[in-house]
Amino acid sequence: MALSRRRPVVAGNWKMNLLRAEARSLAAAVAARAAEMAGADLILIPPFTALGEVVAAVAGTPVKVGGQDLHWEDAGAYTGEISAPMLRDAGCEFVLVGHSERRTLFHETDESAARKVRAALRAGLRPILCVGETLEEREAGRTMERVGAQLEAGLSGLARGDVERLLLAYEPVWAIGTGRTASPAQAEEVHAAIREALKGWYGNETASCAIILYGGSVKPANSYALSKESDIDGFLVGGASLAADDFLGIVREALRAFEEVK
Ligand code: PGA
Repeated sequence: MALSRRRPVVAGNWKMNLLRAEARSLAAAVAARAAEMAGADLILIPPFTALGEVVAAVAGTPVKVGGQDLHWEDAGAYTGEISAPMLRDAGCEFVLVGHSERRTLFHETDESAARKVRAALRAGLRPILCVGETLEEREAGRTMERVGAQLEAGLSGLARGDVERLLLAYEPVWAIGTGRTASPAQAEEVHAAIREALKGWYGNETASCAIILYGGSVKPANSYALSKESDIDGFLVGGASLAADDFLGIVREALRAFEEVK
């Protein structure tokens, strides 16, 4: 799927939720209405156990599927882990890397995120690299420093062509699952700074085509205003992606804003 900044990309991260039958019916409900949302690119990111159900439910529709995490080795003695080739084999095109819950609850580092990005690319997956500051870092005026460091580490050693296959998600940790969203201006400030950093490292063309999603308590009620910002290219949605109406409501509002300004 060739993603374009002129179309919103909306990814639903279901986290550790939904049994297979529930996942199948949510994916089918999204897929059934995907044709009405043809101006957007939709990605569903279920737990590993439901990948097979979700891939089957969206087959033949434009809806794509991603994994929530991966290991940096392709195979081996890593009990409990899932590799990039396994995700490809299960029908994924995308994979989240470095989500803040992985970083804060499971002690993942910038270094492990970098290894995972490389493993995903090696297997032909498109990584969605997540970055974002904590409340403490924001209040200390260190947002850009933290996000810049996560970005620099996550992208280390990548060629421009690799960077062009990757998506970025800016997710302020204080906005995830808290009901507190960054204001459109706060989000845009960081998105623009990310694009500027990409420009410095990879040139104008790569930077201007880069897809930078926003995540953190996105709902239908705030997605229109966020989508109007020029550097916000779509969303990584957690809680609201668990109900088809909310998820598609976000897509509908993003499309409305994109039609007006992008
Ligand atoms: P949230 O989660 O939408 O529930 O805040 C976003 C995310 O963790 O990707």
